Amino acid sequence: MSTPTRRINRREFAQATLLAGVAMAAGISAAAQPAKRIRTGVIGCGSVSHSYLPVLTKSPFVDVVSLCDIRPERARDQAERFKIAHHYPHIDQMLAGEAFDFLVNLTDMQEHEHLNRQGLAAGKHVWSEKPIANSLADGQKLLRTAEQKKLRLWGAPITVQSPQFAFMAKTLAAGMLGRVAAAHADYGHEGPNWSSFFYEKGGGSMPDLMVYNLTSLTGLLGPAKHVSAMLSIVTPERNIDVKGKIKVTEEDNAMVLLDHGKGVISHVQSGFNYFNPHGHDGSGEQRHTISFVGSGGFMGLVGYDWAPLGVDLATHAKPKLERHCPDAQGYNWQQGAALAAECLATGKELLVTPEHALHVLEIITAARESQASGRRIALKSNFKWPVIG
Ligand SMILES: NC(=O)c1ccc[n+]([C@@H]2O[C@H](COP(=O)([O-])OP(=O)(O)OC[C@H]3O[C@@H](n4cnc5c(N)ncnc54)[C@H](O)[C@@H]3O)[C@@H](O)[C@H]2O)c1
Repeated sequence: MSTPTRRINRREFAQATLLAGVAMAAGISAAAQPAKRIRTGVIGCGSVSHSYLPVLTKSPFVDVVSLCDIRPERARDQAERFKIAHHYPHIDQMLAGEAFDFLVNLTDMQEHEHLNRQGLAAGKHVWSEKPIANSLADGQKLLRTAEQKKLRLWGAPITVQSPQFAFMAKTLAAGMLGRVAAAHADYGHEGPNWSSFFYEKGGGSMPDLMVYNLTSLTGLLGPAKHVSAMLSIVTPERNIDVKGKIKVTEEDNAMVLLDHGKGVISHVQSGFNYFNPHGHDGSGEQRHTISFVGSGGFMGLVGYDWAPLGVDLATHAKPKLERHCPDAQGYNWQQGAALAAECLATGKELLVTPEHALHVLEIITAARESQASGRRIALKSNFKWPVIG
């Protein structure tokens, strides 16, 4: 059906120009203007909401209509700061309140699964911070529910969306490292001090930190077939703001080996006891935090995969290390939910998939099983690979 054309007035023109400017500032193509804004509700108004809400509220594809937190003062304060009309102290009230289509879940790691389930049951598309669920089986049930209800479910992190990930994927696919043999990745800091869930059952450095490296390594080398791990607790008690002293019951020190098939092995480590001069804001990190080696070359990612600064490459043909891809090209780790809303509005697909997030979740639970049993664990799940064809 065609719609009659009409001249737009000066105000509409100014608004369209402003939206295009915001779209470009958000790193989104101005040509891909939205058919609509996606009515969005954000649950969890703690630390990470300070990173998400500036991006969501600037996105031309998003209309944040409500916020929710079981600490109501947090939802109220963020609603005031970001000029969001509605805020609620519980998901039941949020779902019964102002209508919306897209739930962005930024709560404690252990809360994601049941809130994601409740969101899907209420007919909402869901973007979840990591992990999507507490186990592979429960995550797969969520995904089946989403598919049956024709809803979308996505989970952080979005490391596969960076231009540096694309460069590394293409370099590996072109065979520039020869026969790829091994990879190493690491991420750690001294641990968050604002919430205890990071150290309690279902928390730990793997779902909080290693999840980024696991997503990048499986995204680049393919799904893992087997996992072996050693995990430990280095600091059995911690001081958490407001709460005081707590017991650490989930690993804060993790070493994981992955077998990607065809002889390719990777090693990943994460922890909450890592001296890190950059603290939680690792955006100034200059080291190679992920490296690959093969019979014909070496490749190192400069900085962390969630805030990459470039890729160094040396090959037989050019043995002196050269820096490539130093530009973020609009990518930032906080933009996942905004990209998902863009997908809902325009149909533009993400490289991030729930199957990949669930594979990474299976690796984390298998690492725990390996530590408990002393065995090497076979994995069942898979995802569409290569991520970049
Ligand atoms: N803080 C960061 O820099 C950061 C960065 C990337 C990802 N993440 C991820 O984001 C998630 C949240 O982390 P955070 O650091 O913001 O934690 P946080 O403790 O600062 O915030 C979590 C918020 O969720 C609220 N909440 C918990 N259960 C709830 C429920 N059932 N209903 C409504 N609200 C509820 C809490 O009251 C709290 O305000 C975690 O999955 C974390 O791994 C955090």
